[in-house]
Amino acid sequence: MLVVGRNGVGKTNLLESLHVATQGFSPRTRQDTQLIRFGESAGRIVLEGHRATSPIEISVTLRQGQAKEAKLNGAKLPSAESLRREVSTLVFTPDRLAVVKGGPAARRAYFDRVLARLFPARAGVPQDYLATLAQRNAALRRVQLGLSGRDALEPWTERIAELGAALVEQRRVALTQLAPGFAERADELGLPDARLEYDAHPPTVELLEARLTRDLERGTTGVGPHLDDVLVASGDRDLRQYGSQGEQRLAVLSLLLAEAELLPTPPLLLLDDVLSELDLGRREVLARRLAGMGQTMITATHRSALPIEPSQVVEVEPGAAK
Ligand SMILES: Nc1ncnc2c1ncn2[C@@H]1O[C@H](COP(=O)(O)OP(=O)(O)O)[C@@H](O)[C@H]1O
Ligand SMILES: [Mg+2]
Repeated sequence: MLVVGRNGVGKTNLLESLHVATQGFSPRTRQDTQLIRFGESAGRIVLEGHRATSPIEISVTLRQGQAKEAKLNGAKLPSAESLRREVSTLVFTPDRLAVVKGGPAARRAYFDRVLARLFPARAGVPQDYLATLAQRNAALRRVQLGLSGRDALEPWTERIAELGAALVEQRRVALTQLAPGFAERADELGLPDARLEYDAHPPTVELLEARLTRDLERGTTGVGPHLDDVLVASGDRDLRQYGSQGEQRLAVLSLLLAEAELLPTPPLLLLDDVLSELDLGRREVLARRLAGMGQTMITATHRSALPIEPSQVVEVEPGAAK
């Protein structure tokens, strides 16, 4: 589906509202107040569609100063964010370039979300690890202040070793699955020999103990997957440092397409402002690839930006869609 309209008419708003209604949060901001129309105190998004073959209805209600409320087929969900476990949506916005050009934290967060979508049963591993890390760091500071003895750290050290190994393993599996599709999609979009390489540091009990003195001085745990990074390269070139904006964009897009092909149910794809930056050849490759995938919404300022005939066109005008 092609979403067309002049700059500033609300195309991004439309995609954002679909993301909120299918995932429970905005890809742009954590501040839900920004999602409510200026001057209003509440807003609601209602979606009707199909999941596989069954009809599905979702509503997300936002009220100033309150938590969002989500309903799936009329039943209230424990939180809007739990929509993530019900429907999968992958989004590309120009902000997503941070996955390649941003710091390691942006990549860790991204690949941990990929991991959660690919292996829903293990979706909690990254959060469990981070929660345990916070506990161990708090314990380190208590020892440093003389409020408890070093032996109080032992259970946390063991948990970090255990959960850290699980997280490293899970990330390796996710990246191993993602890498071939990533390379293929990147290659056809004109980014040759694209690679992902996980630079992992599993925190064993021995390693954690060996650096205990330093960790106590700093009050933080200095080894483990919370410090890891993923190399995104094309041939010998590290795209994190040396990729052009265009190459970084192709890499992010290829990651998204590779993931979409791995998910058991084709996800909803929301692609914002991707066409204008691609040359015609690449737009054609992308359009053909998307035609074989699940439901896709792609924005453009002009119809002609999409080199194939879309199955639907939504024209956005200020304040209304028709
Ligand atoms: N909460 C809001 N309430 C009303 N208008 C908003 C809100 N947030 C952003 N806008 C307006 O929406 C417009 C941007 O729409 P956007 O979806 O980014 O346009 P497009 O993607 O079509 O270029 C801007 O004019 C902005 O001021
Ligand atoms: Mg926009």
